[in-house]
Amino acid sequence: MAAPAPGVLARDAHDGDLDAIAALYAREVRDGVATYEYDAPDTDEMRRRWSALRTAGYPYLVAELDGRFAGYAYAGSFRSRIGYRFTVESSVYVAHALHGHGVGRVLMEALIAACAQRGFRQMMAVIGPPQGGPSVRFHERLGFQTVGVLPGSGRKHGRWLDTILMQRALGDGATTPPEDE
Ligand SMILES: CC(C)(COP(=O)(O)OP(=O)(O)OC[C@H]1O[C@@H](n2cnc3c(N)ncnc32)[C@H](O)[C@@H]1OP(=O)(O)O)[C@@H](O)C(=O)NCCC(=O)NCCS
Repeated sequence: MAAPAPGVLARDAHDGDLDAIAALYAREVRDGVATYEYDAPDTDEMRRRWSALRTAGYPYLVAELDGRFAGYAYAGSFRSRIGYRFTVESSVYVAHALHGHGVGRVLMEALIAACAQRGFRQMMAVIGPPQGGPSVRFHERLGFQTVGVLPGSGRKHGRWLDTILMQRALGDGATTPPEDE
């Protein structure tokens, strides 16, 4: 594991971050395949999503590099049926100009710790193509492994897209029962 990136810290997101979060996500919606959303949500919609996740007890984090917004990450429900309640889906976005400076690692390590601390046992990352691409390699470095590929399951920018499912255990994973049983 690399040394912590100097000057990078992760903290809980707050209302004042939502313009920067919406702007970063809008670029990924417009240009990328990390999300299969087509129309960028505005700040009010991002506030609604952030608030809903927070109310439901999921962590939503922002990274700062030398005091400036550098990216964000959050966890949410993987699937809504009650039996999936110990599994979360993660999302992480780092400002383009700051890729490769350790911001994503700081965010994901903090998100993993926050989810484990809340008692979640598995984290899923649902990743756009390509297989073996930068996002897959990033998640491998954070302890995820590929557990499935859903061929042609997405459509964006006029292309059929393979979706890669990656997973890592949190805390005791599936080796002990949850505390609420
Ligand atoms: C994927 C993403 C979050 C990585 O963030 P980042 O800040 O650039 O990553 P870091 O610099 O913290 O790198 C962390 C590790 O991943 C590896 N990694 C990061 N980008 C990589 C790349 N393009 N190719 C190979 N490895 C990569 C690094 O080598 C590093 O390994 P180490 O810490 O063990 O030395 C960022 O590129 C991004 O926001 N991409 C667009 C959105 C996206 O794809 N999100 C994921 C799906 S929700």
